[in-house]
Amino acid sequence: MTREDEILPRALDALVRWYRENQRPLPWRQDHTPYHIWLSEIMLQQTRVETVKPYYERFLKELPTVEALARIPDDRLMKLWEGLGYYSRARNLKKAAICLCESYSGELPADYEALKKLPGIGPYTAGAIASIAFGLPEPAVDGNVLRIVTRLLADDADITQTKTKEEVTRRLRQYYPAGKNAADLTQGFMELGQTLCVPNGTPLCASCPAGRLCLASLRGETDRFPHRSSKKERKIEDRTVFLLRCGEEYALCRRPDKGLLAGLWELPNTTGQLTPQQAQQYLTSFGVVPDSLTPIGDAVHIFTHVQWQMTGYAAVVPEKNLNFIWKSKEQIRSDCALPSAFRFYSRQIFDPAEEKP
Ligand code: ADE
Repeated sequence: MTREDEILPRALDALVRWYRENQRPLPWRQDHTPYHIWLSEIMLQQTRVETVKPYYERFLKELPTVEALARIPDDRLMKLWEGLGYYSRARNLKKAAICLCESYSGELPADYEALKKLPGIGPYTAGAIASIAFGLPEPAVDGNVLRIVTRLLADDADITQTKTKEEVTRRLRQYYPAGKNAADLTQGFMELGQTLCVPNGTPLCASCPAGRLCLASLRGETDRFPHRSSKKERKIEDRTVFLLRCGEEYALCRRPDKGLLAGLWELPNTTGQLTPQQAQQYLTSFGVVPDSLTPIGDAVHIFTHVQWQMTGYAAVVPEKNLNFIWKSKEQIRSDCALPSAFRFYSRQIFDPAEEKP
């Protein structure tokens, strides 16, 4: 018997029992409707539980069925997703909903491979839906699971490598239970990874259901696991953002259909951190002659691969330049999805008092 054969089945069993006693009551844990589980798993990718809660509730209130999701206009979909980030998740949800209506009568298939063929559903999400919604013995391997398993087995494989993820998936499949235990084990991994076996700071091994089985904990080496090769540095980009107002309307633009924040609204902006003189020249170069130009502060926004270091100017302009689309505060609030990257500046539209630091 290998070390893994001794540790894994007992740890998985302990985790299921611990989850049943200790789970937090979260909105997507009230029922196992496949559509609800799918939506929650997509929203929870790279996003914290507390952030997701209100989005999840609002989304399902407006789109209670897969059919309703398949029919929603893109702009309204983006508005429902506004501020959650990684907008391609929302676009893929709608694409997948259309596939489900065309091929599966609006239901999710109870089949891991069929789930994985849908837009936006990779191995992790397919495993999560298969196990939580359908009780299939499929693991859902994300960063939480990689951390927990490599700590349990004191395994120093590099978790940034695809083959490590495949190996952990293979090991877990050998012991994964079915039925309600599958659902509780998948959610148990998430719960343990967020509350006790945490990524930053000291894990709370004394409270862990698998603490007495975990090789990293027994050896006092939890900080050595998981092992990951050094990350690629983020590219830093300087930008200048403009809050242009003409009467009661503000200038917006659409981002290109491809690339970062594709197709969303944005405040006019350009590369480089411009001085007030350069900002004035930039606006004049395409026919905007402002009555006034005021610096409105610096902000940073971090994306996955790039970081924007922004400076901003508010300008009052005498006429509505046709390079932009002009919208009132109310129209922006109700119809336009403005990504969080611009929030520092866009909130000055809604609460002008914030202009003064
Ligand atoms: N993160 C990803 N899936 C989750 C879930 N079902 N519950 C809590 N956090 C999660």
